[in-house]
Amino acid sequence: MSIIFNEETKIFYLNGKNITYSFLINEDGFPEHLYFGEKIGFDDIRYTRGIGRKSFEAKPQNNKYYNDLLSPEISFFGLGDFKEPTFQVKNKTGDRLCELKYSGYEILDSKPKISNMPSLRGNETLIVHLSDEFTNFAADLYYSVYEDLNIIARRIVYKNNSDNPVFLERAFSFSQSLPSGNYDFISLFGGWGTERHIERVPLHHGISSIDSKRTSSSATLNPFIAIAENDATEISGNVYGFSLVYSSSYILKAEKYSTGEIIVTGGINDFDFTWKLESEEIFETPEIVIAYSGEGIGGMSRAFHNAYRGYLINNKFVSKPRPIVINNWEATYFDFNNDKLKKIVDCAENTGIDTFVLDDGWFGKRNNEKCSLGDWNVNTDKLEGGLKTIIDYTHSKGLKFGLWFEPEMISPDSDLFRAHPEYAISVPGRENSMARYQCVLDLTKSEVRDFIVNSVNKIIKENGIDYVKWDFNRNITESFSLGRESDRQSEFAHRYALGLYDIFERIVYENKNVFFEGCSGGGARFDPAILYYFPQIWTSDCSDAEERTIIQYGTSMVYPLSSISCHVSQIPNHQCFRTTEFKTRTNIAQLGATGYELDLSELSSDEISELKENIKDYRNNEDLILKGDLFRIDNPNTSEFFSEMVVSKDKNKAILTTYRRLLRPNAEVKRIKMQGLDKNKKYFVSELNGTFSGSTLMNVGIQLKDLFPRYDFSSFKFHIKAV
Ligand code: DGJ
Repeated sequence: MSIIFNEETKIFYLNGKNITYSFLINEDGFPEHLYFGEKIGFDDIRYTRGIGRKSFEAKPQNNKYYNDLLSPEISFFGLGDFKEPTFQVKNKTGDRLCELKYSGYEILDSKPKISNMPSLRGNETLIVHLSDEFTNFAADLYYSVYEDLNIIARRIVYKNNSDNPVFLERAFSFSQSLPSGNYDFISLFGGWGTERHIERVPLHHGISSIDSKRTSSSATLNPFIAIAENDATEISGNVYGFSLVYSSSYILKAEKYSTGEIIVTGGINDFDFTWKLESEEIFETPEIVIAYSGEGIGGMSRAFHNAYRGYLINNKFVSKPRPIVINNWEATYFDFNNDKLKKIVDCAENTGIDTFVLDDGWFGKRNNEKCSLGDWNVNTDKLEGGLKTIIDYTHSKGLKFGLWFEPEMISPDSDLFRAHPEYAISVPGRENSMARYQCVLDLTKSEVRDFIVNSVNKIIKENGIDYVKWDFNRNITESFSLGRESDRQSEFAHRYALGLYDIFERIVYENKNVFFEGCSGGGARFDPAILYYFPQIWTSDCSDAEERTIIQYGTSMVYPLSSISCHVSQIPNHQCFRTTEFKTRTNIAQLGATGYELDLSELSSDEISELKENIKDYRNNEDLILKGDLFRIDNPNTSEFFSEMVVSKDKNKAILTTYRRLLRPNAEVKRIKMQGLDKNKKYFVSELNGTFSGSTLMNVGIQLKDLFPRYDFSSFKFHIKAV
């Protein structure tokens, strides 16, 4: 039993691996937060409550306590609590009052799924029932804990038990109190080619927030924040991480209140959101995964990695060796035919590369980005004999075949648009904003979803496709759904997400043996909900090794290495025109689900031999990428170096990759102290040809002076094995 309720004190204790989460049902029937952190005993910790403070705030007359002084598990406006509310409901009269009080709890042995959105699998789950006596509006607070994880998964289900429709004007997934203190706010910002760069700033009084209004989780700000004690490092200090399992417009906020207490809340973005909830209807919110680490930011990341590998990503693929692909995009762009593709496949034969992925341009009349999205039939002018010719050829060379789709899109110059202009998202009478000459299909409509499901499933099944790259190359504008009532138009962004998940359910789970990779103009929709369907996601269109150190470092804050798709690509690099050596491009791309995206025929025979060795080495160590513990040692945002170490769970095997940006005269003699090893074990480090104790490798470290070559952007990989 990981969830205990003390009937006398009315305290709930939820225990994870090394964590305890605790709250109280107070005399007013309000769920009041008590504690979240390192595991504690089942003690009476009510002495930590804020009730004794002096306040001039208001309170409902029959209540004993001032809501404003309490640490909320859910918070509501209008009844004396002025902290950031978790939800707001507009009642029939137009008033927005709702006072949720405790009406009971349940503990389930197995975690219920959210009916229309992805969520973590799991076991013991607590549901706390709350309702408002006056309006009968109700909410259920869900909490799931795991014996092997340092996370808690939370969400709220709102219920309209009144006789009238109400309007949800905000419906967040949680509110989480953290004790007063000095904290930093960490987030992952970016744009195309610069996804998930880390930003860490002091948390000030008032509200700090990140959000997306793009109907996509976005490259601009990933749906993740961490609140870290301001002296927390990668290896020490208290850190709380919040990762939202959602792919549409969202918001995450941290409020430092006048009392010093921190309230973190968020979920579906309440900007441009209203949801009409009919009588007896429920509204389910996306899940928030909250990690606690007393071992700094690194510990928080490992908590997320373990949670997402163990309970989110498709079990069938999560720990299996990944396809090592050769993708034709940077080698050919739209300019290909069977001969060009066959040459790429020929070069890949017997190298260890096992999948050829045909990217954009194989369908309709698509010779550039201006047309044909939606016309999912093969362009036989380009590919004589249809897809069959190149698929058969690929198979004959022992490789699997992958195919690119962008199913959510429609080009105005397409047969689909000519037949069904109403499928595109638009506001009647207004010209659509365009991006890459394309519009977005209205996934809130069932007939549009059926069209996508049927077209994609048909191509996959008819051609025996092994691998799908699912792209999404623009954000949504003119958010409007033709035919939907005007008081439901602000439901659009959430309905789009629900439509997307419906499509994924019907395509991904219909084609159980097909491996799906997510993509969004690079990594613009890299979120846990996508990972639920797609075990890996293309991280960024920028595949330059130097840029990737920063992008991959940030992405690994939340997402396991096995989900971070990384390719060795052309030089000079196509995004920032930098030239880095093959070895460095490989070493950085091997800190994830690795692959290739270049014209293999341009590689020298030495490079091809190197490539074969690299793939062998990757396969020998792939279990570390799939299942190991990540330790980030040198941060490329603040140092000339980037070093990451991955250690097996039994601490018997590890790799350490280190990279130096620029060669400098008379430079610092670099020492790397390893992490994550067993201090009592002895390890053989192949590249040093020596055996050392774990404690020596972690405390004295290794010295890199003579290992780096004398040029910029160089890298080195160490193989470490217990003896
Ligand atoms: C954007 C993706 O990130 C690229 O890898 C490529 O698939 C193009 N789209 C194709 O249009």
